[in-house]
Amino acid sequence: MGAVLILAFESSCDETSAAVVRDGAILSNVVSSQTALHAEYGGVVPELAAREHLLNLIPVVRKSVADAGTSADRIDAVAATRGPGLPSALMVGLKAGQALAFFLRRPFIGIHHHEAHLYSPWIGPSAGKKAASDSRATDDPRGSLRTTSPTFSEFEPNVSLIVSGGHTMLVHVESVLRHRVLGSTLDDAAGECFDKAGKLLGLPYPAGPIIDAMAQSGNPKAYDFPRPMMNDAGDDFSFSGLKTSVRYFLRDHPELAEDEWKVRDLCASVQSAIVDVLVTKTVRAAKRLRVNWVTASGGVTCNRELRERLAGACAQNRLKLRLAEKSLCTDNAGMIGILAEKKLSLGCEPTGLDEDIEPGWELG
Ligand code: KG4
Ligand code: ZN
Repeated sequence: MGAVLILAFESSCDETSAAVVRDGAILSNVVSSQTALHAEYGGVVPELAAREHLLNLIPVVRKSVADAGTSADRIDAVAATRGPGLPSALMVGLKAGQALAFFLRRPFIGIHHHEAHLYSPWIGPSAGKKAASDSRATDDPRGSLRTTSPTFSEFEPNVSLIVSGGHTMLVHVESVLRHRVLGSTLDDAAGECFDKAGKLLGLPYPAGPIIDAMAQSGNPKAYDFPRPMMNDAGDDFSFSGLKTSVRYFLRDHPELAEDEWKVRDLCASVQSAIVDVLVTKTVRAAKRLRVNWVTASGGVTCNRELRERLAGACAQNRLKLRLAEKSLCTDNAGMIGILAEKKLSLGCEPTGLDEDIEPGWELG
């Protein structure tokens, strides 16, 4: 299969996104976030998320096609997230993608959301920017457009940390599309722990980025929170005990949540506990499996301390590190399109137009 232009949809949680990709490069990647809407409820409300996707999808798709300098009739294949995620939210993107593929008579491919995160660190930062400007310069996205495509071209076997609001897992990636889950969280995800600890501290949803910012001026050693399962032999995680310990600590010291500087220390201390676990377990798995590379992706990978500490620990252990670009850490259709293109180019079968969503899809 030669170079194809792919239109991708992502609607598994609270971001409505559409992207156009070609030749391993993201030509456009439009994300409409519903964060403000759900903040009022302290978390994502599935029914509201689905309704917002319905409202936002067409404008988002229009913009992504326009930003890529192309038109819908030039699309060669359509992709959408099929799972895992919120059922009603997934349905919007998947069914819209399948309907468009049916109408355009193009192949459709359903993508595993975590698998797309898994390969997102290999999407080169220069690819999207160069391609986007190139695509505006030419009016022929199928013919004359030539872009550099670092995506996958620098791929190396690795141990990958996928860490977000809904999932925390370590995966051994032996080659492109050949991977094995080493471990995942037994209860809360790391992002959920950030968000729930933040809620206890009176911070708005999602608290992860706010804790990140407040921790900058806090003392990470001020309070000693547990590092659950950090020294266990296995690769699984557990964060609910850490959240509970923050709850009990604040129950016994309610005055701390009233003092902004103490809150900063609490943010730094909680963040440090989460990051310690993530970094220790990732590096240990990489060394045990004798890979040279570590990668990380998912919303929590935006966290400054996690990025810095992973870089430090990898350097100390002579491991190379590839972090997903920040704009590709949180949910976006660009990563869905890139994986769809790779799958089609490797001969994976398109997904039937009558295939359903897979809300609980495990990463194989
Ligand atoms: O990947 P994502 O956008 O959505 C899911 O699939 O869950 O991740 C969202 C999660 C939220 O829990 C949010 O608090 C967390 O990522 N997050 C962060 C940061 N930015 C986003 N957590 C810590 N530090 C950040 N800078
Ligand atoms: Zn995600």
